[in-house]
Amino acid sequence: MKREEVFNFSAGPSVLPQEALERAAEEILNYNGSGMSVMEMSHRSAFFQEIFDSTKAKLKAALNVPDTHEILFLQGGASAQFSMVPLNLMEGGTADYAVTGNFSNIACKEAKKYGTVHIAASSQDDNFSYIPAQDQLDLAPEAKYFYYCSNNTIYGTAWPYVPETKAPLVCDMSSEILSKPVDVSRYGLILAGAQKNMAPAGVTVVIIDKSLAGREVPYTPLMMSYKTMIEKDSMYNTPPCWCIYMLGLTLDWLEKQGGVTGMEAIKHEKAAVIYDIIDNSRLYKPCARPDSRSDMNVTFRTGDADLDAAFAKEAQARGLMNLKGHRSVGGLRASLYNAQPMEGVKALAAFMKEFEVKHHV
Ligand SMILES: Cc1ncc(COP(=O)(O)O)c(C=O)c1O
Repeated sequence: MKREEVFNFSAGPSVLPQEALERAAEEILNYNGSGMSVMEMSHRSAFFQEIFDSTKAKLKAALNVPDTHEILFLQGGASAQFSMVPLNLMEGGTADYAVTGNFSNIACKEAKKYGTVHIAASSQDDNFSYIPAQDQLDLAPEAKYFYYCSNNTIYGTAWPYVPETKAPLVCDMSSEILSKPVDVSRYGLILAGAQKNMAPAGVTVVIIDKSLAGREVPYTPLMMSYKTMIEKDSMYNTPPCWCIYMLGLTLDWLEKQGGVTGMEAIKHEKAAVIYDIIDNSRLYKPCARPDSRSDMNVTFRTGDADLDAAFAKEAQARGLMNLKGHRSVGGLRASLYNAQPMEGVKALAAFMKEFEVKHHV
C-alpha cells in the first residue's frame, strides 16, 4: 500500500507528522551541511549539541516548563521509570499508587520492591473502565509521592482532573503528552515514552522538579539516578540521538498547529466523531465509562470476538490500520494521537457506519 492510502491508528509506536518524516528524509544523509547523518555523529559534537539544546528548549516552550523543573531525555522506555521513580523518590518509605490500568498496575508492583505501596485508588473492580473521583482517593499522610497514569492506553480511559494531593504528583503521561496544556508546576515528575505523540520509540521524556533529585537509595544503579542525569544534562552516556532529533522535528510541526492549545482544541472534536458513532450504534459498545473516556485511545467492541476480528481485517484492507484492541483485553481500539488527521478519523467513521449496516442483525 502507498502511504497516502493508509491511516494508522496504532497505539504505539504511532503515526508521526508527515512533515517531520519528510524533513528527516531530506536530512537523513547530510544534516545541515555536516556531511553526516544525525545517526552517525558524535553526541558531543557541536552539530548534535545544537539539536539537543534546541529540542529541549522547544519542549520547554511547548509545555511551559518552569525553571524549577528539569527536562531529561532517558532510555529504557516508560517502563524503566516504573523502577526509577521508586528508587529515587520513595526513600524506602510509602508511596500512593492509583491503579487505573495495565501500566499503573505494573508500576505499582515494581514499587513494592523498594518500599511500602499504599493503593490510593483502583478501578480494577470494573475492569479498569473508569477513573476514581477525587473524593474516592484514599491518600496516605506519609506518602512520598502520588503516582498515577493520566491516560490508560489499553483501556481507553483518561483522568478528567488533576488529583489534589499533599504529596508530589508523579504522572505517566506517555499516551497524552503534548495533546493539551499542562500546569507542570503542579507535578513533582512527569514521565512519557516518546512513541505516541513525540518521536520514534527510544527516548523517554522525564520532567522533574529539581528539588526532588538526590534522594535515591544507595543501591540505585548509576544510570537510574535522576541526580546524575540532571548533573550531566541527560548525557552521562550516549543519549538516544536520533529520537531526540525526531522529537525536535515533531515539536516544529506542533508549533505550527498552535502548540498544545491547538492540539487540545482538535483532540476532543476528533474523539467525539468516533464516540458519537459508538453511542448511537446498536453494534458497537464502548469499553470506558462516558465520564472517564480518553480522547487519545477510543476503545469499543461488538461483543463478538470474531466480528471484532473481521472489523480489524476489513478495515485494514481499506487502509485503516491497527484497530485491533490490545492483546490483553481484545475488542477494538482507535488511537487518535496528535498526528492523526481529522481526515483519518472521518474515514474510520465512514467505515464503522458501513460495517454496522453490513453486519448488524
Ligand atoms: C501509558 C503507558 N505507560 C507506559 C508504557 C510502557 O512504555 P514503554 O514500552 O516505552 O516502556 C506504555 C506503552 O504503551 C503506555 O501506554
